[in-house]
Amino acid sequence: MSSIEPIRYTVDDPPRTRALAARLTVMGELAASLAHEINQPLAAMVTSAEACLRWLERERPDVDNARKAAQRIVRDGHHAGNVIRGIRTLLGRSTPQRESLQLNNTVADAVDLVREEIMQHGVGLVLDLHEDLPAVTGDPIQLQQVLINLARNGIESMADRPQHLRSLEVRTALDTEGDVLVAVSDTGSGFDPTLMPRLFEPFFTTKSTGMGLGLWICRSIVESHGGSLWASPREPRGSTFQFTIARTSA
Ligand SMILES: Nc1ncnc2c1ncn2[C@@H]1O[C@H](COP(=O)(O)OP(=O)(O)O)[C@@H](O)[C@H]1O
Ligand SMILES: [Mg+2]
Repeated sequence: MSSIEPIRYTVDDPPRTRALAARLTVMGELAASLAHEINQPLAAMVTSAEACLRWLERERPDVDNARKAAQRIVRDGHHAGNVIRGIRTLLGRSTPQRESLQLNNTVADAVDLVREEIMQHGVGLVLDLHEDLPAVTGDPIQLQQVLINLARNGIESMADRPQHLRSLEVRTALDTEGDVLVAVSDTGSGFDPTLMPRLFEPFFTTKSTGMGLGLWICRSIVESHGGSLWASPREPRGSTFQFTIARTSA
């Protein structure tokens, strides 16, 4: 009688240990990226809370301005929560939402969240939204994260450009299949075409303080929606990052 050897995995098993180590590294990098992503809204919340207190502590409290500051705190708090939810979804701890949505609204929400960064960097914003888009099915917060990531990359790519030549364009359109296309274009540095396949790899970055996770996360989100995300150079300069999401089938 032949005995069947049970397959045993122990922590000494090299492939498994390596896989675990790789996963721990990815988790560590994700944690660092998460810290970075929520640090910004947290700092903004503290600033707004301090402003709110100053408006209230005046001899004649300025309730209007205090209310505006409190509203900024609420908005930034939601944003930080959404980022955490987005990362948790990617790690598989919470199920992505699947709801019917209009990508024009997702674009508008994302633009609202980066509007301050756009202004701070002296970037001109052009929105070109197709008026009659079909609904798509997806997770609005994840898709919002994709747009925020692409917009941030675009803003960062224009840092060395004279201010009047910095332009970020967000366009929605129908592609030839009748699916929804969203394109984020900039007039920035562009990228070396030979690097194109690597841009979407995790931890690929050309920035001194970059994490190299943004495009990788964007692509996983778009692909989990059955779409695709790609990059192309733009004339005379800059780049376009665009993705498609299938229309909700009737
Ligand atoms: N809009 C853009 N213009 C030029 N290069 C870009 C743009 N977006 C991304 N890249 C390139 O892709 C790399 C990876 O981007 P990303 O995954 O978002 O990571 P990070 O922004 O942390 O570097 C960037 O370091 C940059 O070289
Ligand atoms: Mg990035």
